[in-house]
Amino acid sequence: MDAPFVYLNGQVLPRSRATLDIEDRGTLFADGVYEVVSYYDGRPLALREHIDRFRRSLDAIHIPVPAELDQLGGITDDLLKRNGYNSAKAYWQITRGVAPREHSFPRNTTPTVLVITYPAAPPDPAAPPRAIACVTHEDQRWSLCSIKSLMLLPNVLAKNAALEKGAQEAIFLRDGRVTEGTSTSVFAVRGGELWTHPADHWILGGITRAILIEEAKLAGVTVNESAVPWVELSKLNELFICGTTTHVAGVVTLDGRPIGDGRVGPVTRRMHELLMRRITKL
Ligand code: PDD
Repeated sequence: MDAPFVYLNGQVLPRSRATLDIEDRGTLFADGVYEVVSYYDGRPLALREHIDRFRRSLDAIHIPVPAELDQLGGITDDLLKRNGYNSAKAYWQITRGVAPREHSFPRNTTPTVLVITYPAAPPDPAAPPRAIACVTHEDQRWSLCSIKSLMLLPNVLAKNAALEKGAQEAIFLRDGRVTEGTSTSVFAVRGGELWTHPADHWILGGITRAILIEEAKLAGVTVNESAVPWVELSKLNELFICGTTTHVAGVVTLDGRPIGDGRVGPVTRRMHELLMRRITKL
């Protein structure tokens, strides 16, 4: 059995034969960036937006943009067909390439380009959003969170701290304000309005977040791009997280205390429906 196939540096290979060099700077320094794109019945959500954000991440860390960047849609389609996946998530990774371990940028290296696809169960558009428990966690990341960097150790540690407490996601707090989740954007609902951290260098500018802001505005819901202070969390009506693989999930408890009435609220359900509508229309 050859499948699954992956793409590595211009070649489509069975996963068992795809190997990275031990001196890849992705391994030595987390010197690279990535994207995750969801495919529904073979069609990607927001492909252009993911490619554009990938380009911005590459530019931000001065990795020359490889020719494959604009071909990632075609490369991923091909992998999905070969692997027989209809609904899937695609992982794209580009590192600075292979060189002896010196901090300074190596001269004349070629970036390493990797694409992996994973089968994913398609969401049931008629089902309600998932209800989840979250915990807060100090945001211990760096100050360039808008770059989708491979350097995810603070996210990994916080996510696992959440799982150890029986929760499904950790919500980061920086200087007493909500930034985002370990792999999700966060929205609070208060008085029927949405509140979410501005897309500055303290969060990843989530593509699902941007879709929901657009949909909310079209639906006449006021969106405040302003961070929610921790002290306000007990006064919220609803809290939800969103992301490419998470879609919309309602946070019903935070640090063991209920949010609102402890159930997924109407605004969260509405935002979930609007996202599902976008996906079904693809
Ligand atoms: N994570 N914030 C962080 C820190 C993220 O890592 C992600 C995505 C998001 C949501 O962004 P988007 O809507 O563009 O997926 C917010 C991906 C899915 C991951 O690391 O697996």
